[in-house]
Amino acid sequence: KKVEKVELVKVIATLNDKFPHPLNGEYAFVGRSNVGKSSLLNALVGKKVAFVSKNPGKTSTINYFLIDNRFYFVDLPGYGYAKTSKKDRELWRKVIERYFSERSWNMKVMFSLIDSRHELMESDEQLLEWTQILGVKPVVLLTKIDKLNSSERLKQIKYFENILKSYGIERIIPCSSLTKEGLDEVWNVIFETQNY
Ligand code: GTP
Ligand code: MG
Repeated sequence: KKVEKVELVKVIATLNDKFPHPLNGEYAFVGRSNVGKSSLLNALVGKKVAFVSKNPGKTSTINYFLIDNRFYFVDLPGYGYAKTSKKDRELWRKVIERYFSERSWNMKVMFSLIDSRHELMESDEQLLEWTQILGVKPVVLLTKIDKLNSSERLKQIKYFENILKSYGIERIIPCSSLTKEGLDEVWNVIFETQNY
């Protein structure tokens, strides 16, 4: 699928900023800081629209990208970055809480990004528990899969399949923004929810 038009149409920086028109729904990209949310969004649309950085904490606002005038990709700030101050973590929690409480109704799919190289972190568990309470079933994207060799890859995928089952999550897609692995499958998830 080739995306023709991508526009950053709304940046939510404060608790007063308004969310955009619902259109045909939105796809949220959530996950720990530095997991590769902005990179994946760019890889999916084939354009560098979202800011990427080696340093965690790059995305600090909720950014709405309008895709072909139909729906939105929502780039959210990362959570769980240990070095951020308690105040910043509090702010993130408020931002994401507001996002979920005001917008989860318009969410077609929540993509929960988890670094394929690591174990599930406490902040990931918190997010997954939260989604259960909200009744949202995320699709998990295991990011940076290009960094694993074939045996590590098998081991990690098994590990995540097992642990995520306890959250009722069955859809897990290994991805790489670098090699583009998994991106077609992510698009398929999107197609299933759109007449696109
Ligand atoms: P925050 O905005 O800080 O929450 O981070 P983010 O989740 O948006 O991560 P971002 O896309 O900025 O990427 C973080 C770092 O990981 C950058 O140095 C990227 O180049 C790198 N990266 C992202 N995706 C991949 C991937 O699939 N493979 C590899 N090898 N590196 C990746
Ligand atoms: Mg980002």
